[in-house]
Amino acid sequence: MEKKDKVSMAAIRRLPKYYRYLKDLIDRDVEKISSKELGDIMGFTASQIRQDLNNFGGFGQQGYGYNVKELYGEVGKILGLDKSYEVVIIGAGNLGQALSNYTNFEKTGFNCKAMFDVNPRLVGMTIRDIKVYDFDDIEGYLETHDVDIAFVCTNKESAQDVASRISNTCKISAIWNFAPTDIVTPEGIVVENVHLIDSLLTVAYRIKD
Ligand code: NAI
Repeated sequence: MEKKDKVSMAAIRRLPKYYRYLKDLIDRDVEKISSKELGDIMGFTASQIRQDLNNFGGFGQQGYGYNVKELYGEVGKILGLDKSYEVVIIGAGNLGQALSNYTNFEKTGFNCKAMFDVNPRLVGMTIRDIKVYDFDDIEGYLETHDVDIAFVCTNKESAQDVASRISNTCKISAIWNFAPTDIVTPEGIVVENVHLIDSLLTVAYRIKD
């Protein structure tokens, strides 16, 4: 399956959901599935499923449907999960520690190698074999290690400064930002913001009145 240049961001954002549902199907020993059946369990129409997968070349055969394992592998490849990624976590507070304790990231190929913080009480600690370093050493670390992604888990006020410093080294490819502020980085560094509060506010809207 080929990655097409003009695939909409909305279609790309649906891919992790395909990946998750296909894994569930594999775990339930389902070998093949039609676009209608897949659509029914995912809450999409059959035509949406076909359209999404056609973006990448499509596969599935008329009258047979999709081979679940094959499709799972292909979606994984499109997502870039046929390789692993080195990760650092900046901000070793509540959230940073919770993320470093989450073993599913490793299982998906995201390996956290180090954490960084400015708080001397946290620097030197080890969480699940992951050492917390002084953030002042970040540039040196990035120069000497191949790091793909930085998870930014600092307070809102520090997040932009942190992002600028790690971007300056030009060594990382992406920032996964949890601080509730939209950080700016030089072109070429991907930023994905995770604003959990936005999702919670949507819950509030949906239950009001
Ligand atoms: P926290 O206060 O426990 O941890 C923040 C850590 O960042 C502290 O250890 C602090 O020393 C460190 N820090 C501050 N400036 C730094 C810098 N320049 N370089 C390196 N480290 C620095 O806060 P918490 O709860 O872990 O939250 C972290 C961020 O994630 C916040 O922006 C928060 O709004 C956001 N967030 C937290 C959630 C949670 O469930 N805890 C949920 C959603 C978002």
